[in-house]
Amino acid sequence: MEVYIDGKFYPKADAKVSVFDHGFLYGDGIFEGIRLYEGNVFRLEEHLERLEMSAKAIMLQLPWTRKEIADVVCESCRRNNLTDGYIRLIISRGVGDLGLSPKTCPKPSIICIADKITLYPEALYTTGMKIITAATRRISPAALPPMIKSLNYLNNILAKMEALQHGYHECIMLNDQGYVAECTGDNIFLIHKGRLLTPASHAGALIGITRQVALEVAEQLGLKLCETNLTRYDVWNADECFLTGTAAEVIPVIEVDGRTIGSGKPGPMTARILESFRKKVSKEGTRIR
Ligand SMILES: Cc1ncc(COP(=O)(O)O)c(C=O)c1O
Repeated sequence: MEVYIDGKFYPKADAKVSVFDHGFLYGDGIFEGIRLYEGNVFRLEEHLERLEMSAKAIMLQLPWTRKEIADVVCESCRRNNLTDGYIRLIISRGVGDLGLSPKTCPKPSIICIADKITLYPEALYTTGMKIITAATRRISPAALPPMIKSLNYLNNILAKMEALQHGYHECIMLNDQGYVAECTGDNIFLIHKGRLLTPASHAGALIGITRQVALEVAEQLGLKLCETNLTRYDVWNADECFLTGTAAEVIPVIEVDGRTIGSGKPGPMTARILESFRKKVSKEGTRIR
């Protein structure tokens, strides 16, 4: 495997960054997780637009055009002979002095890793997943807007550790007001009485690219879309529940906090959304070859 760092490809073992990089020292940087399906990069423009918005929010001037970054992504896939895979595109503040100030970092770094990913066991996509609610709250948008896809994932990791400690793969994170925000690396959706419900970004959710796809296909399936505050009570009483993410794709949830969701099997609407999602990813995208 070869990893792209600042203009060159390096074998995996030699793909290294400086310990003085502020991405490493302080989590000062941003990233995107992107998928390659059947030789097409899925929703590349949307990912690069979100990257640009994250960069703007942290006042990191990108010295590359969108086209140049897109080329890095596609070339990374070609170099690694991938047809299907997961791409991690990272922009860090770059090398600087000790001390928080980004002003000591004259040049941001760009890194692109193109590899494979399996987030959850394959069987869970047909049997459905059981999750819990974490005690760790999602960081307040007033402290760090969750819309910034930053290199600071410790908040999410603390919650993920809770899930793992209790024998679960994933968990719900509530915001500081106690409303459902999202999961540690996925967005959450409920289906109830013909409506598709999901928290809005101001509730502390990252606006996921897969979330957007789920909304599009749900609308086509005739569901009414509703971005609203959701409580744990709403989740427990939903007819169906599923999670979305670039790595997770669309995964049904059949139990939350010990409460069975709907029939206890992946719901029929969730199955249709998953099917439409799979059709979309196999048809759309930016060709790498
Ligand atoms: C915290 C968080 N929420 C939601 C998502 C889902 O976003 P997307 O569908 O763009 O991958 C991610 C994925 O990276 C995430 O890290």
